Formats: sequence, C-alpha cells, structure tokens
Amino acid sequence: MTASAQFITVEGIEGAGKSSNLEAVQGFLHKAGVDYITTREPGGTPLAEDIRALLLADRSEAVSEHCELLLIFAARAQHLKTVIEPALAAGQWVLCDRFTDATYAYQGGGRGLDMQHIADLERIVQGARRPDLTLILDLPPETGIARARQQGALDRFEQEELAFFQQVRQAYMDIARSQPERCHLIDADRPMEAVRQDIINTLQERYPDLTDKRSAPPTG
Ligand code: TMP
Repeated sequence: MTASAQFITVEGIEGAGKSSNLEAVQGFLHKAGVDYITTREPGGTPLAEDIRALLLADRSEAVSEHCELLLIFAARAQHLKTVIEPALAAGQWVLCDRFTDATYAYQGGGRGLDMQHIADLERIVQGARRPDLTLILDLPPETGIARARQQGALDRFEQEELAFFQQVRQAYMDIARSQPERCHLIDADRPMEAVRQDIINTLQERYPDLTDKRSAPPTG
C-alpha cells in the first residue's frame, strides 16, 4: 500500500522536455483517481512567482551567487508553507516541476557554490521534508540548449554557456547515483513516446497498488 500522499518532483536541464513529461505523470495520477496538485519552483505562490520573475529576469547587473541562492530558498520557504505542506497534510499528492535537486544542480554544480551550504539551507527551510520520488530527465546539454533556443527568448539561466549546463547535468547524475531509492534517471534523448513510456513504467513499479486500481475491472 502507498502509505501517504506522495511528493513527486521532475527535474532536468533546459530542453529536457519537462512540460510534456509532467503531463505524462498527471495522466497517470488522473487515471488512477489520485487527488493531486501540480506546482513549480521557483514559484507556486503569488509571492514566490514574484521572486521567480526577479530570478529569471535578464539584467545588466551581475547577480551574486548567494543572492540567487537565498532568493530561491526564500521562494521555497513560502511555497512549502502555503502550498506543499498544506496539500500533503490534506492527503493530496504534490507534483512539483523542480525542487531542491535543482538548487544542488544549478547553484551547486553550475555556479560552484558549496554543497554543504545548500544542505544547511535545505535543513533550515525544509526540516525533514524531501521528495518521495524524483524523475530526472537526462540528455546532452547541446541537445537541450538547441531545443530551448527554438522555444523563444532566453531567460537569465538559459543564456549560460554550455560548460554551465555540463556541470548542472553532472550534478544531477551524481544525485541520481547517490540516492537511487528516490531518484530515477530517465534518458530523455529519445522520441517523446519512449520517454513517456519509461515514466509510466517507473510510476507503475513504484506505485503498484495504483496500477492495480487502474487495471481492475469495474465492480458492481
Ligand atoms: P524552469 O525553466 O524549469 O521553469 O526553471 C527556471 C530556471 O530556474 C531554470 O533555468 C533552473 C533554475 N533553477 C535554479 O537555478 N535553481 C533552483 O533551485 C530551481 C528550482 C530552478
């Protein structure tokens, strides 16, 4: 039995196809009759969305790495307190587009900040809260950036050099390797349908009781 409302996160570098794969997870949960919300980081509340706009804006002033890190955790604190924790407490599953693994990957891997400082903020802001399942979409940064560039104007992160995204990708891989019980690394450098199927298989393996419900014949 799946014990309690689950906190599921989806991660990956730009252009990894997060949006369409989030839809695959939503489709699975919907068919299984799960009560869930979808949210995102940075953002997910009016205040946190304002912080997101500050973070992504293209600006002439150089942004301090610590300013960026603290803004991300400020947004996260608000998001956790007003959206994520209340939903989980009410028994709703939470599907989140990025979470703290992105901070380890982008601010730790990409910007080179001390991972221990990120871990300290994680503990202060989140207490014991961690995702139950994280899907990490992996693909070569060259492919991801090319895809992101086709999608229009680039935000402050998308304008980074290839080397930045290589470090982000490496950090995601390190997380997946060090926490295999929580993280599933998914090869996103394949046709969309194959990636989608991989995600469904992962969810079915992880939540077999939901899968049974999906395939059970109607009763009565
Ligand atoms: P998005 O494009 O997936 O909506 O994410 C916005 C950007 O924010 C993306 O380039 C990654 C970045 N980001 C961080 O740098 N650290 C974080 O902790 C999070 C959640 C996102």
